[in-house]
Amino acid sequence: MRPLFGEEEKSAICAYMDEDGFITEYKKTNKFERMIADYTGAKHCIVVNNGTVSLTLAAIALGIKAGDEVIVPNYTMVATPNSIKMFGAKPVFVDVEATSLCLEINLVEASISEKTKDVMLVSANGRYPEVGIDALIALCRKYDLKLIEDAAQSLGSYYPDGSHVGRKGEVGSFSFSAPKIISTGQGGALITDDDKIALNLRRLKDFGRDTGGNDVHSSIGFNFKFTELQACIGIEQMKKLPDRVVRKKEIWAKYQSELKGLDGIKLFNHSLKNTSPWFIDSLVEDRSSLISHLRDHKIGTRVMYPPVNKQEAYNLSGYHPVSEMVGKKGLWLPSSVQLSDDEIFFITSKIIDFYR
Ligand SMILES: Cc1ncc(COP(=O)(O)O)c(C=O)c1O
Repeated sequence: MRPLFGEEEKSAICAYMDEDGFITEYKKTNKFERMIADYTGAKHCIVVNNGTVSLTLAAIALGIKAGDEVIVPNYTMVATPNSIKMFGAKPVFVDVEATSLCLEINLVEASISEKTKDVMLVSANGRYPEVGIDALIALCRKYDLKLIEDAAQSLGSYYPDGSHVGRKGEVGSFSFSAPKIISTGQGGALITDDDKIALNLRRLKDFGRDTGGNDVHSSIGFNFKFTELQACIGIEQMKKLPDRVVRKKEIWAKYQSELKGLDGIKLFNHSLKNTSPWFIDSLVEDRSSLISHLRDHKIGTRVMYPPVNKQEAYNLSGYHPVSEMVGKKGLWLPSSVQLSDDEIFFITSKIIDFYR
């Protein structure tokens, strides 16, 4: 069996155990936060216990309250709308661009009401809206809306002007759950350049404590803190991130060149110069038969997110053609950074066999 951690992670954890060691947040957490801030170019990074509460805290820190409306893409992981449902705000679902699977900006404008306070942009699989992020920022300014970037799937992806995804909104959010490009088991991070928002986020995740090491509370806060043990893993994972970004791009390029021109399967486009595909997302014909065919060859796949408004948890009316089409045809192909070239060629040869 492949070892769970490399030698480097083992030694970091051993070194941690040999230190005077806090279990909750301390030096290692600060170091991990600094590494993410440096990598993304943000002034502040605040880590929390997952990439769902990170969104909740971002919204609360920006003043979003129960009853406010927040525009959310209808194609996303359900955590995005749930994060604001948690405190009584209302997600308003908007369809996505067929090319990027990110918010369709014209539809965002059409969905703005008196109660709209915030837009949550999900950079689906590291991509950003094809019309350009500046158009969305201009729209948010026009209507005085906050912009939160749910960049859970986007560590290692950049906008064309070189800013890391997550840096264009007031706050950007990342997730370190198991299948992400780096993982701490569970974990999330918030980035911002705004000192006041950063302080607010730190207080919100630590019981509203005024500063560390005291029990003075001038605001309401919760406990969404990280741990030093996770930070040890995160620090070692961050060292691997640049190589993983390169490999993720190679994997996507290999799939793309092998499957190009094949009727029946289409990958979503990536500008590999900027974006690092987290997963290989595709639209396929005859999805269930392809899944069975690949399963027969011991190749796992996963259907992409269904349209959120049609999930039983929400069960809202509304026709969102792109997210509905993805719900029928979307398929994630094996995407692990550990895939070898031979394994990718084996997978693509079985897909080619199926469609030919
Ligand atoms: C777009 C998006 N937002 C939020 C989350 C939630 O992150 P976490 O699992 O760390 O809570 C995910 C997780 O996959 C995600 O893909």
